[in-house]
Amino acid sequence: MTEKSKIISEIESKFIELFHHEPELYQAPGRINLIGEHTDYNDGFVLPAAIDKAIYFGVKKNKVNKLRLFSIDYKESFEISMDELEKTQVHWANYLIGVAVQFNKRGLKPEGIDCVFGGNIPLGAGLSSSAALECGFAVCLNDQFSYKIPNSELILMAQKAEHEFAGVMCGIMDQFASIFGKEGHVMKLDCRSLDYEYFPLTNNEVDVILCDTRVSHSLASSEYNVRRKECEEGVAILKKQYPEVNALRDASPEMLESVRSGMSENVYLRSHYVVHEVVRVNEACEALLKNDFVTFGQRMYATHDGLSKEYLVSCKELDILVEIARKNPDVLGARMMGGGFGGCTINLIRKGCTEPFIQEVLKEYPAQTGINPIIYRVKISDGAGRLI
Ligand code: GLA
Repeated sequence: MTEKSKIISEIESKFIELFHHEPELYQAPGRINLIGEHTDYNDGFVLPAAIDKAIYFGVKKNKVNKLRLFSIDYKESFEISMDELEKTQVHWANYLIGVAVQFNKRGLKPEGIDCVFGGNIPLGAGLSSSAALECGFAVCLNDQFSYKIPNSELILMAQKAEHEFAGVMCGIMDQFASIFGKEGHVMKLDCRSLDYEYFPLTNNEVDVILCDTRVSHSLASSEYNVRRKECEEGVAILKKQYPEVNALRDASPEMLESVRSGMSENVYLRSHYVVHEVVRVNEACEALLKNDFVTFGQRMYATHDGLSKEYLVSCKELDILVEIARKNPDVLGARMMGGGFGGCTINLIRKGCTEPFIQEVLKEYPAQTGINPIIYRVKISDGAGRLI
């Protein structure tokens, strides 16, 4: 039995035990991001993909006008009247309530629904388990009540749930990847227009593996919101001289240099990182089209340096993992991935050369940190939907 079928069968039997009817099944995946970090809320570009780690849902409408939930991972039940949906003390339930509220706001008022969910996206590893939870539940409600809301709207509703019920002012990348993911492809998303393009990432030349630091610093959400504010400050200063700049995506490196003296050092460094990351994503995509993974990998290392030294969202453990990668010539690129302050690095490795690198990480990382890392080999998979 695979891990996935084990989780699904546990969901089915728990659902029947608790609610005495048969569930319908859905899934929503986590994501990786090859390059384009902290660019989404600056209207820039990102290059994510959905992975074969997901949250699975058993759901069915009920006739009691309640949202009745059970989390397999927390082994905990929660219920609330559909007429009184609001934030609760039960942290995990807020993600789902937050989604149901978005439907209410559209005047759709979903009736009662039962939901048992669980999955294998590691929490706090930077693989967007929260976006998967929100997107998956949005897909469930949309389908169960036949609302026919397009996916392009569902991602925005899931993002609003994160803003309002989790308090993280996230961009759109994670929700987008969880819903629009396509097997074997990364997606170049323009976070301003939400236009996107799929790029095949076959496993012929490179392998992608994740190394989990197994640290997750509490700074993650508060500092995330601070970074957003610093970027907005950067835009306000640029705009005085360049009215056409509405987001850091619109500023060139030269424009930024020309207003540097009017910026605090922090705002300059954050803006410098973003402006250059926007350039790097475009260069990396050109390299990808030519199967030039060497150039692609160099951009990933440069991204890590920027995140670590200018954007200040890395941490000692992530930097150590990237330094181990840098010493191995078969690791073409490596960097911290996601919001930062812990979680995983993403590593682009020459095909067939993964094993020696993994052995190095398993030896070196504990020697330097005292922590045993976890290695994930992920497969690029389809986005959220109903399981048949
Ligand atoms: C988190 C957010 C995303 C994005 C990344 C950083 O994952 O949810 O919107 O900003 O951090 O790239």
